[in-house]
Amino acid sequence: EMGAAPQTILQKIHLADGIVEFIVHSPLVAKAAQAGQFVRVLPWEKGELIPLTLADWDAKAGTICLVVQAMGASSIAINAMLVGDAFTGIAGPLGLPSELHRFEGQQTVVFTAGGLGLPPVYPIMRAHLRLGNHVTLIAGFRNADLLFWVKAGERVSQLQAEFPDLLDVIYTSNDGSFCQKGFVTTPLEAMLKDGQTSQGRKIAEVVTIGPPLMMRAVSDLTKPYGVKTVASLNSIMVDATGMCGACMVPVTIDGKMVRKHACVDGPELDSHIIDWDKFLPRFNQFKPQEQASRVTHGF
Ligand code: FES
Repeated sequence: EMGAAPQTILQKIHLADGIVEFIVHSPLVAKAAQAGQFVRVLPWEKGELIPLTLADWDAKAGTICLVVQAMGASSIAINAMLVGDAFTGIAGPLGLPSELHRFEGQQTVVFTAGGLGLPPVYPIMRAHLRLGNHVTLIAGFRNADLLFWVKAGERVSQLQAEFPDLLDVIYTSNDGSFCQKGFVTTPLEAMLKDGQTSQGRKIAEVVTIGPPLMMRAVSDLTKPYGVKTVASLNSIMVDATGMCGACMVPVTIDGKMVRKHACVDGPELDSHIIDWDKFLPRFNQFKPQEQASRVTHGF
């Protein structure tokens, strides 16, 4: 979109109740973006800085895709913004890109995405597929009303059409209103117990993105099996430069407690070294109402 002022909202798509997708003119970010990275959005002067994962981007068009769920005052106000409105600032891309390895043979990279975990999972999954890796996506939704990106022509089905031999998708819904009833952990547990997926593939690694309680459940499940698991942490962030400490993640390395910061050491971290007992309460420490909806959504 030549001519549009930077940070202008070019498209707004209502995905589900309280969940909006924005296509934003942000050519520099779009050019530099890599899977797994995020941006820090200043919605308006003196507003709150909001970290948002890059859900998609188009370097040629100079656009990025951000998905926002109305949870607290700021995100509710962002979701009320209209096409033609502009954010005051978008800084990024920030954070370390996903580490990608090529997995040969009958292996698969398993993604567990809960609720709003699907947008951040999408570009990472696509990067693995482009590398030639087989991917198994387990996407969990609370109920059928909260589905998005799964219908024909939408992002996940587009990937299925583009990589028919490389992508298996399993959907779960908490109430059984869509596909398999249960949580993302239900099919994952079956695979771990069987030592392979129903297609006979071994799990190369697990990537989990979603509500913190879900990521912890996934991490606890894979740990005894020794399956490498990466969690992408959508922590509370303030400066996003590693200075303020808001996004601190306590991890244990060689028996020692070490402070990592999701904004500069992540957002992806080895989930098995995260001290979840100390980490989870940090979500409540900052914004009680926001976290309440974050934890209950999708899991
Ligand atoms: Fe301040 Fe990460 S957001 S240290």
